Amino acid sequence: MRLGKLTGYEIRGQEILLDFEGEEGRIKVVTPYIINVFYGRGDKRAHSKAIEGDKTTSASVRVEEEEGGIWIHTGQVSVRVSDGFFVDFYNKDGEEVCGDYRGERKPLERVSPEVLKLLEEEGHSAEGGGEKHAFEVLKKLDTFTHFYGLGDKTGFLDKRGYDYEMWNTDNPEPHVDSFKALYKSIPFFMALTRKNVYGLFLDNTFKSYFNMGQESVDYYWFGADDGDLNYYYIGGDSLAEVLKGYTYLTGRCPLPQKWTLGYQQSRWGYVTLEDVAEVAASLRENDIPCDSIHFDIDYMQDYKVFTWNKKRYHNNPKAFLEKLSREGFKPVVINDPGVKVEKGYEIYEEGVEGEYFAKTPEGEVYVNTVWPGEAVFPDFGNPAVRKWWGAHQKFLLEQGVRGIWNDMNEPASFRGPLPGNVIFTDEDREATHREMHNVYGHLMAKAAYEGLKELDGRRPFVITRACYAGSQKYATAWTGDNTSLWAHLQMAIPQLCNLGMSGMPFVGTDVGGFGADTTPELLARWVQVGCFSPLFRNHSAAGTRRQEPWQFGREVMAIYRKYVKLRYRLIPYIYDLFYEEEQTGAPIMRPLVFHYEKEEWARTCNDEFMLGSRILAAPVVNQGIEKRMVYLPEGVWYDYWTHEMITGPVWFVRDAPLDCCPIYVKAGTVLPVMEPQSYVGEKPWDTLLLKVYPGEGSYDHILDNGEDFGYREGRYHHYRFTVSESGEVSCQILHAGYEKPYQKILLQRLGEENWVELHPAS
Ligand code: GLC
Repeated sequence: MRLGKLTGYEIRGQEILLDFEGEEGRIKVVTPYIINVFYGRGDKRAHSKAIEGDKTTSASVRVEEEEGGIWIHTGQVSVRVSDGFFVDFYNKDGEEVCGDYRGERKPLERVSPEVLKLLEEEGHSAEGGGEKHAFEVLKKLDTFTHFYGLGDKTGFLDKRGYDYEMWNTDNPEPHVDSFKALYKSIPFFMALTRKNVYGLFLDNTFKSYFNMGQESVDYYWFGADDGDLNYYYIGGDSLAEVLKGYTYLTGRCPLPQKWTLGYQQSRWGYVTLEDVAEVAASLRENDIPCDSIHFDIDYMQDYKVFTWNKKRYHNNPKAFLEKLSREGFKPVVINDPGVKVEKGYEIYEEGVEGEYFAKTPEGEVYVNTVWPGEAVFPDFGNPAVRKWWGAHQKFLLEQGVRGIWNDMNEPASFRGPLPGNVIFTDEDREATHREMHNVYGHLMAKAAYEGLKELDGRRPFVITRACYAGSQKYATAWTGDNTSLWAHLQMAIPQLCNLGMSGMPFVGTDVGGFGADTTPELLARWVQVGCFSPLFRNHSAAGTRRQEPWQFGREVMAIYRKYVKLRYRLIPYIYDLFYEEEQTGAPIMRPLVFHYEKEEWARTCNDEFMLGSRILAAPVVNQGIEKRMVYLPEGVWYDYWTHEMITGPVWFVRDAPLDCCPIYVKAGTVLPVMEPQSYVGEKPWDTLLLKVYPGEGSYDHILDNGEDFGYREGRYHHYRFTVSESGEVSCQILHAGYEKPYQKILLQRLGEENWVELHPAS
């Protein structure tokens, strides 16, 4: 997008208003590291869905003039604004980090203009390329740059060379690399250049485009169909710092309830009370720890939201859910946005009465088809609708429900997509579906989160399928309808890692695959990835082969149990990672590049990942493979299973029979673990076990009640463990606010049998 010459500017605090021959642009210094670039198209100002409140912190702003433009210096970032509204970002050493490309965009000529004309004359349509958008921003690209983030897009970790669209999409076909969009629109990415890193976030909810060097080796571009040109440059010295900046802006996932880190069992097709009871009993009988059973749409009456099918639950779902809870299972229920059109149905009637549903331009309630048949769509952009919807969750909580799983909120519809001109609300103004589509699921999650918070007081557990930037504040997410394919197990790693790199840390895939029939081997390998994914749920589609761990014989069940138990062992560590994430935005499951951006192999590694900074997993994600190449980045590592010490960076071959997922722990780690239990809270949590991996380091551990927001008022204990080269450990209590601290801390040094008691220094 080009404007005219920069003919004037005005400094208003941290904002610089720019005049390009009568057209107005704006640069705002949000923090010394975060710069907002804005050009308003039209006079209707959208409310940011991603950013809540004013994130501006005081920063020094120094403006310097030069021929044809100005420089804006913050001390950390320098922005050069030139005639035409070219914007280039420099680091504090004066190196250009992210510059606008000065040439013209050259869309791929898929078909030559002559051929295109011929085809058109003959009545055929052909894709000629060269489509124009409301605006496009072209940035320079060098041969080195790698891109990470962009939400749940298919394919590999590094997004360079591909093009994507941001348009929340429920495509039932198996997800392949050539998909341009899936359920989530997170218009944020991080670039790792030869010497620098930065992030760019386009806060625009219309359909947008990210062409990451697919059409050129010299530039990449992003643009949107409508709305304002409104993007943020986020600087920093590492990917971690950039992500910290992005999550400062768009929010972080609050520490979840501890049980939500446990294993969860689900299936579309647990139709009756007896089905669920049998699954619950089998989990316990087979000694598979499990914290939750999910109820898919089968539990509802005629797929009507906020109802329970009484017949199939013997008229008393509440008593059944109470029984499940006593056995340690926290019930989670699905909730879809589509409200059944039915006279006399409370939710429908109330919604019509309150004008809570989206409308046609003619002012009629808009109707499409989803699970319940004819259905209408709550207008979640309207604060009153969010309140209404959130409050209705009371009915589910009263039945004993502990978490809400929001699905179909792209919104998905079976009778063609919702037309672009369907009318929604953006807080206090009218907005069309074109503008609100990508934030529909986000706003539904917000309604669910805020409603639960008010009704329950505990930390809300909301799962969502559709997301926009910032959805992490309200919900955990899963990657939707994957398929029981090896390719989808492979994809799970980069997909979950990129969600983490997009600010969404609490994510998971359907373990075993949703569609199609899983195989024993695939399930055994999938659980070896699933046990490390922040959201750990086995889910499958109606009509597919049953996928609970006991369906595939003793060997697979033993493997499954081994990894579910490993997960439970690691819950204290994973919980600490969530605590850290709430402070820094660092994801739970991380690509190697997050910690080792200087290492070439780390930058494009798709089949290994890290759980926090201390554990590296190198699972097998190919059929029939029992050995694999492992790459360990720099530093000293210990093989989790054999205790062998290995010094990286190094490549080697590791045996990985079906029951083995190679795992490595960094030297200098004090790993908090717990004895596996059938569910979180089955046994008291009064003894802390520490596994010590010698090497210099320190480790921070948090303990609280794992349920409410008391930790934000100081009701937690903060322990710091320091370990030396020889494996000596000391403990300090940095904050003592939890009423039930550990009675005992026991540690075990690597390779030793016995546990030794550790006393905190007073
Ligand atoms: C959607 C969801 C899936 C669910 C199904 C039935 O396909 O993605 O998880 O099982 O709907 O509710």
